[in-house]
Amino acid sequence: MRGSARPRTARANVPPPSPRPKRARGDRPPRLSTERLVLRPFDLSDARAVQRLAGAREVADTTLHIPHPYRIGMAEAWIGTHREAFAAGRSVTFAIVRKRPRALVGAIGLQLDLAHGRAELGYWIGVPFWGRGYCSEAAAAVLRHGFETLGLHRVHAAHFARNPASGRVMQKVGMGREGCLRGHVRKGDVFEDLEVYGILVGEWRSRRRRTK
Ligand SMILES: CC(C)(COP(=O)(O)OP(=O)(O)OC[C@H]1O[C@@H](n2cnc3c(N)ncnc32)[C@H](O)[C@@H]1OP(=O)(O)O)[C@@H](O)C(=O)NCCC(=O)NCCS
Repeated sequence: MRGSARPRTARANVPPPSPRPKRARGDRPPRLSTERLVLRPFDLSDARAVQRLAGAREVADTTLHIPHPYRIGMAEAWIGTHREAFAAGRSVTFAIVRKRPRALVGAIGLQLDLAHGRAELGYWIGVPFWGRGYCSEAAAAVLRHGFETLGLHRVHAAHFARNPASGRVMQKVGMGREGCLRGHVRKGDVFEDLEVYGILVGEWRSRRRRTK
């Protein structure tokens, strides 16, 4: 057959088709449940807790977009953006709620870029709840949601080099360090180095098979 004369190397370089990323269904994110946590959409009734927790200097210090001081009305305004951003396929944001005793402990989400099948993972945990594994538990559930439900190809995340606890969270959920973007963002008067992490769907699946 004539077609068999096609150069084999060219064909070998073509990646297999990957499934198209799916738009999330419904107008709000689903509830995800883990051993100790529920991840659910934020409600306006969460605003006071968000203002108290996200308003801590320690939380603003290692994040790029959390204002400080965190004034009255900012939490309501932030929560008010979630539904439209979700419906437009731009982001999915979850409140992290401890099951027992019930408490809002933080926030986690994906900034979606569906054209490229990828999303950036971001999170914060209120200071009283640090160091109990909550962020790692929530991040594992959100990665699963991103790969299994949204059909993503890649999830990436970045942390300030001076924030190794966040890097540890990324490592614990199987993300690999991809490099350092030196002086990549300005926080106040300081240019911060960013440590960049990522994981591809195939890596996530193999890890999941190994750890099941
Ligand atoms: C970073 C943050 C989300 C971690 O939340 P958390 O619920 O405490 O995280 P976890 O308990 O799941 O895991 C933290 C890990 O970091 C480790 N860690 C804590 N401080 C550390 C440090 N200075 N150096 C290295 N590792 C550190 C912990 O020991 C733990 O790892 P381990 O389970 O192997 O012992 C939380 O500190 C936070 O919200 N910080 C402010 C906002 C922020 O930085 N968000 C991320 C922006 S990229």
